[in-house]
Amino acid sequence: MISKQFISFHRPDITNEELETVAETIKSGWISKGPKVIEFEKKLGEYLGAEHVISCNSGTAALHMALLALGVGEGDEVIVPSFTFCSSVNVILHVGATPVFADICEDDLCIDPEDVRQKLSPRTKAVIAVHFAGYPANLAELSSICKENGLYLIEDAAHALGTRYKGKMIGTHGDAVCFSFYATKNITTGEGGALILKDEEAAERARLYGWHGITKNAWNRYGEKGSWRYDVLLPGFKYNMTDIQAALGLVQLKRAAEIQEKRTRIANYYASELTNQSERAELPLTDIPSHITHSWHLFILRVKKRGEMERDQFIENMKAKHIGLSVHFIPVHMHPYYKEHFPAKLPVTERIFPEIVSLPLYSQLSKEDCQYIVQSIKEVLSLSQEVGQ
Ligand SMILES: Cc1ncc(COP(=O)(O)O)c(C=O)c1O
Repeated sequence: MISKQFISFHRPDITNEELETVAETIKSGWISKGPKVIEFEKKLGEYLGAEHVISCNSGTAALHMALLALGVGEGDEVIVPSFTFCSSVNVILHVGATPVFADICEDDLCIDPEDVRQKLSPRTKAVIAVHFAGYPANLAELSSICKENGLYLIEDAAHALGTRYKGKMIGTHGDAVCFSFYATKNITTGEGGALILKDEEAAERARLYGWHGITKNAWNRYGEKGSWRYDVLLPGFKYNMTDIQAALGLVQLKRAAEIQEKRTRIANYYASELTNQSERAELPLTDIPSHITHSWHLFILRVKKRGEMERDQFIENMKAKHIGLSVHFIPVHMHPYYKEHFPAKLPVTERIFPEIVSLPLYSQLSKEDCQYIVQSIKEVLSLSQEVGQ
């Protein structure tokens, strides 16, 4: 089987409806924050079953606003996994707090509640749980730890739109939940994000922080009912979503279930074809208990080292077959800045990182693409009948 063209790691799923809605929005004259943003927040709240939704221009902004709104700052410690994108940790430093790295569990690749307990100190103010790949962290344990110790539970749900835990959507559990709508995410606004807060006052503070610290509704000052007058109540940031992004997001949100179903079908196909193929390829996060719905943001393959066939070589060999793979994540504590300033020893994270790859997983992959990817993996790992015998 020969692939005609490169199968990229990701392509967004944008239909004519998105294109038309965005074009209409641009023609309407409201191209920055306006009625579409308000509508997007309302629809996202309905989708999640959440009350306080603050849209913004990235998942990173959502994380930063979460810490600001909950009053995390100087002198506080925040326990966070290193097995995440760097922005989950960078924002802790942006508010003047100290990141404390916790290890992950080998089975769910999410923050290990036992290690969180080990890392607690009198200065701990919050725990950030990352729902890695769209598989939820152990929220039952993490919630009890936070409750027992008076800590905030912040969820980095950049991968987890559509994930459910014990029957409820991610977005309805922790004190603050942060979504990303970056180009590769399950639904996209190009760049974008949303912060969900349990507490109404915290939500008001987040809105202020996300828009220069300017009083509510001042975004509408050029509208018929608006006024030129506004007050600055604190030194905020410019983190707002635009109507162009929200227009794209509204159509994507309407299609979220359809997109997730397609991703799930592809993930199930990968799992059925690749499970038990060899001791050299493990599939974490595919054995899903009944209280969990996986959003399938990423499909992770764990390539066990043997001889020359290491993960990096596996990626190169797949590239030679015109297939783009990625790695999620280079652990944050292994990056130069964090190595120097926040050295940590995280045995599970460090053992897993050299072995993981993320396979292409998006709704536009055709059946032939998926078959070709599976066949290529088997060949590269010398698993198939024809190769390596
Ligand atoms: C786990 C995680 N957290 C946070 C982010 C940041 O989201 P954004 O790129 O929208 O700022 C990402 C983005 O890739 C992510 O994967």
